[in-house]
Amino acid sequence: MSMNRPTYLYGIIVASLLLVALVAGCQGISGVPAVLGQQPEAAHQPGSEGTNSSENAEAQFTLKTAISDGKMVFVGVGGGLEGLVNPELQVQDGDVVQITLINGDGALHDITLPDFQAASEQITGKESTTQITFTAGIEGVFPYFCSVPGHRQAGMEGRLVVGTGNPTAAAEAPSIVRPATDLPGLTAGPSTTVHLDLETVELEGKLADGTSYTFWTFNGKIPGPFVRVRVGDRVAVTLKNDILSTQNHSVDFHAVTGPGGGAAVTQTGPGQETRFSFQALNPGLYVYHCATPSVAHHIANGMYGLILVEPEGGLPPVDHEFYVMQGEIYTQGAYGEGGKQEFSREKMMAETPEYFVFNGAAGSLTEEHPMKARVGETVRIFFGVGGPNAVSSFHVIGEIFDRVYDQASLTSTPLTNVQTTLVPAGGAAMVEFSLDVPGRYILVDHALSRLERGLAGYLMVDGPDNPQVFEGTIQGDSGH
Ligand code: CU
Ligand code: CU
Repeated sequence: MSMNRPTYLYGIIVASLLLVALVAGCQGISGVPAVLGQQPEAAHQPGSEGTNSSENAEAQFTLKTAISDGKMVFVGVGGGLEGLVNPELQVQDGDVVQITLINGDGALHDITLPDFQAASEQITGKESTTQITFTAGIEGVFPYFCSVPGHRQAGMEGRLVVGTGNPTAAAEAPSIVRPATDLPGLTAGPSTTVHLDLETVELEGKLADGTSYTFWTFNGKIPGPFVRVRVGDRVAVTLKNDILSTQNHSVDFHAVTGPGGGAAVTQTGPGQETRFSFQALNPGLYVYHCATPSVAHHIANGMYGLILVEPEGGLPPVDHEFYVMQGEIYTQGAYGEGGKQEFSREKMMAETPEYFVFNGAAGSLTEEHPMKARVGETVRIFFGVGGPNAVSSFHVIGEIFDRVYDQASLTSTPLTNVQTTLVPAGGAAMVEFSLDVPGRYILVDHALSRLERGLAGYLMVDGPDNPQVFEGTIQGDSGH
């Protein structure tokens, strides 16, 4: 990043979200009538008697929108929820649930629970209110959130716990996320033979909170293992296809000189094993992926990874190396819909994914495995796009890449001082930067609609403030 230039971190996020909200709010004045003048009632504990318009409601809650610590949130009103941010709402299985939403900040908002097909109208203007009523007919834990674009990501999300909250099968699905820190260190010494064992595994995993999907993987995680060799090395590959697989699988390394990058000799049936070896002739950072038809389907389901062929002499040391790959997922249900999702061939052929993900799943590098570093340290990101279809405009909000190894060419002079770098489907980039200011930096594809389809990663930077480079206070509870 460059010195003596104000960088914007939270400011730009909050400001742009507020802008979106304001713009949307203007439309809302004519298009979405607000429910004005309705007197909100205090929240009650679950099971308390309804006293007003909904005699039947067995659980009533009141939430108010607010801006707190630079985030947009719901705040509980009345009863045990008073003042709680994004409170957990507890109800009994089968309860009729009523939620009243009060607009506390004047922007356009709503409250939505897609798992119960419950969505309020959108309200704008301070003290306007709306209400939803639905029956909580399934046990589990379900999100409630504001569906105005960007607001859920800005913090307007909480949980409804029904009954014991005993997670549904979807919520119990295991993580298929490979942490960005899961990669080997520098290789040592002269050329050698590297043995690489890959196993193709199909498994149901967590795609998002309350949503599962049957992923196809290399070694059970997405992306597949980070392979690190040095130019001149011989790589001996063994590809084993799990006996429980429903598909043949294979592997095509873009680092290979030879038929299909290996795919021509690794088409492998369930329970079978194939082998081949190659010499790594060209240094660089390369994508590998399954190349069994329909190839796009196998890639979309998670079958991709990166292989680094280090140049002579290796790469210079840095404090942290991270491994991040972008992919698309084509589900039959819309983004955010709960339960087990099936693959949609129609959406894949139309190139209209429901999810965009880093490292396999929504929330992978935010809630689940945020990246961590400290002020004064240097960071290198190995970034690849599995795809299968979308190109990435890779960007880190609040940082500037000191060096971009464009197209993952490690033998060209790197670009310096780059904001956003284009990474093709089936391509990669290596970027490096140093950290000067503490805070939360967000990895995105600057095609930012995708942020609202699951694509984000956090780099949490600890350390002392650096007011010479950045001075400012993250917006607190404004109330206006
Ligand atoms: Cu495959
Ligand atoms: Cu931006």
